[in-house]
Amino acid sequence: MRAKVSLITGAAGEVGQALIQRLSTDYACEQPTAAATPRQILALDLNPLPTALPANVHQVQGSILDTGLLDRLVSEYEIEEIYHLAALLSTRAEFSPDAAHRVNVEGTLALLHLAAQQSEWRNEPVRFIFPSSIAVFGLPDQKTKATAPRVREWEWNYPTTMYGCNKLYCELLGVYFSRHYRQLAADRPTSLDFRAVRFPGLVSAFTIPSGGTSDYGPEMLHAAAQRKPYACFVREDVRIPFMAMPDAVKALIDLARAPQEALSRPVYNVTSFSLSAAEFRDHVLRHFPDAQIGFAPDLKRQQIVETWPADLDDSTARRDWAWHPDYDVDRAFAEYLVPNIRRRYEVGVPVPTGDNCA
Ligand code: SER
Repeated sequence: MRAKVSLITGAAGEVGQALIQRLSTDYACEQPTAAATPRQILALDLNPLPTALPANVHQVQGSILDTGLLDRLVSEYEIEEIYHLAALLSTRAEFSPDAAHRVNVEGTLALLHLAAQQSEWRNEPVRFIFPSSIAVFGLPDQKTKATAPRVREWEWNYPTTMYGCNKLYCELLGVYFSRHYRQLAADRPTSLDFRAVRFPGLVSAFTIPSGGTSDYGPEMLHAAAQRKPYACFVREDVRIPFMAMPDAVKALIDLARAPQEALSRPVYNVTSFSLSAAEFRDHVLRHFPDAQIGFAPDLKRQQIVETWPADLDDSTARRDWAWHPDYDVDRAFAEYLVPNIRRRYEVGVPVPTGDNCA
């Protein structure tokens, strides 16, 4: 008998680490008896996971492009759901567009195939949870960005980056695989259950992202906590939406657990708070008054964020699966980011890597 697992790709990345912790902690809260079988997690990443792992996590080091490895995983495990987090982010993808296409598109395609095969074998759709991004939007100019209301899912789907193109296409591939793939031949209602959220810039207290264009937010904060000067790579007036990492993980899990009949779309905007880079700095200064934060815009990265919306309309997620962020901007800084980052850099206490069950 193959063990039933949830597969997480990109498990060593910042969303992956937080998701593993939350899935393990949720389980411990829901199933406090020793006799219960924990949710088994198969954590796949090119890199090793950095912290000690809960007992229910099986780590596999390798690439999503290694079809031999994927075949082996399928032969050893029954994959019930997939959180496909592995990706090259927007700035890195501009430097290595071919590599980005391979990882972001071919890697996703390989996993969609895997999910479709597993669904057929189980005679039940595998749930495929996909984090998409504000990068799928592309506003044509600053006037439009300034006057556009909170952007809806179907508006301005004209990405300007390789990463944004990859994410938008993979959303469409996911829909194709869930609604059309082999449907006629096999006479099946669905071959997999694809669900996606479009994240704004994510901010974690425990990890610093790499290769993203929204990274100036978390970089500013982590630099301030380390008393290091920081030069922000976008202009002060640039405005995009952000979200604290616990809310990002909550969005993935809540979407995964939502009943299929409640979902009116396959892809949902989710957001929390919208800040200009200057406002982000002001929040950092409120908690770290001595922080040295300047602005030295990088033209290419500036141009990328200029095409991203200033805010997202996530009313459909709120209506369909009761999405709401737990952290508005003040709570995110005061209760999640600042205390945890202080502990990390100033006190040297080992950092808890999960959130409470509440
Ligand atoms: N955080 C991502 C990036 O900057 C956007 O979703 O690439």
